[in-house]
Amino acid sequence: MKALVLSGGSGTRLRPFSYSMPKQLVPVANRPILGHVIDSVRELGVTSVAVVVGDRSEDIRAVLGDGSSHDVDITYIRQEAPLGLAHCVRIARRFLGDDDFVMYLGDNMLTGGLSEIADRFRADRSDAHLAVRKVDDPRRFGVAEVDSEGRVLRLVEKPEHPVSDLAVIGVYFLTAAVHEAVDAITPSERGELEITDAIQWMVDQGGDVRTSVHQGFWRDTGRVLDVLDCNRELLAGLKPRILGAVDPNSRIVGPVVVGEGARVTRSHLAGPAVIGAGAVVSDSVVGPYTSVGDGCVLDRAGVADSIVLEGAAVRGVIGVHSSVIGRRASVTDSPVTHRRTLFIGDDSKVEVHG
Ligand code: G1P
Repeated sequence: MKALVLSGGSGTRLRPFSYSMPKQLVPVANRPILGHVIDSVRELGVTSVAVVVGDRSEDIRAVLGDGSSHDVDITYIRQEAPLGLAHCVRIARRFLGDDDFVMYLGDNMLTGGLSEIADRFRADRSDAHLAVRKVDDPRRFGVAEVDSEGRVLRLVEKPEHPVSDLAVIGVYFLTAAVHEAVDAITPSERGELEITDAIQWMVDQGGDVRTSVHQGFWRDTGRVLDVLDCNRELLAGLKPRILGAVDPNSRIVGPVVVGEGARVTRSHLAGPAVIGAGAVVSDSVVGPYTSVGDGCVLDRAGVADSIVLEGAAVRGVIGVHSSVIGRRASVTDSPVTHRRTLFIGDDSKVEVHG
């Protein structure tokens, strides 16, 4: 089986972070979402991976390289414009050949539960097998209507009036039968070749398309709150490792990773938490559920349930909670009483009490 990882979308809902980095590279537990996706593909035993990239292709190549750090072999395929998921399958035809493949959306994070679905797909020899989940608001997703054995009767992309609460999540197991389908369909109202339309076409032709309800953790990381959820989920399984220097006046409770070259002094680290390489943490309280990126500076800071990206600084500010602080951003206390000085980029969100 091969893998087709889709990483072309722009991520308007993840602004402001997606202005300066592809949304798939936003870090969760100090590693890009896309890195977690590649690991998840590798866990299925797949080593031949194509990554479909759009106009942020250079950033993605710089992070994933040839795939060797993930023990996979990566081929990059350029999509000139965001013309839809089925279009990605079209342009990957040469790479895919007639092999089975798993199509994985690069902004979806799943932990656990996928290998069972892959095994079922391999055993059943159906034309396609989709991972699905019950969701509260199916209107945001592709929705599957299935029979009592989980066979697809109908698939609709983001229906206004959903007939089922089973959402198609970002992982599709497909056979070469999909190629005829992606060639047969025409663009949807939003101008994209929809993978849901291609799979519906397979069903209409009498194809055998099955579903399995995914049991592990899953988030479409479209929104900042979803990214924080993923951060909590991944940190929950953290294996502690102290590579940097922690002084005797600091206290570590619970699983904490302190990266190489990091320095922690007079601070309290409440795990699970990760402190990136070269970060400097002094007189601060960090965690739980907090990822602090490489080279960050936390001084007299209190940060919990948050992601602080590479090179950012928090000085003299406590009570930072459920926050994502962008690369090289700076949050400091004001030298003037009762004054808040804010240089806030487009689409940022700041909540201040009092
Ligand atoms: C895509 C698919 C949709 C699926 C969703 C899962 O939507 O078109 O069928 O349910 O991913 O995340 P998009 O996020 O591209 O709007």
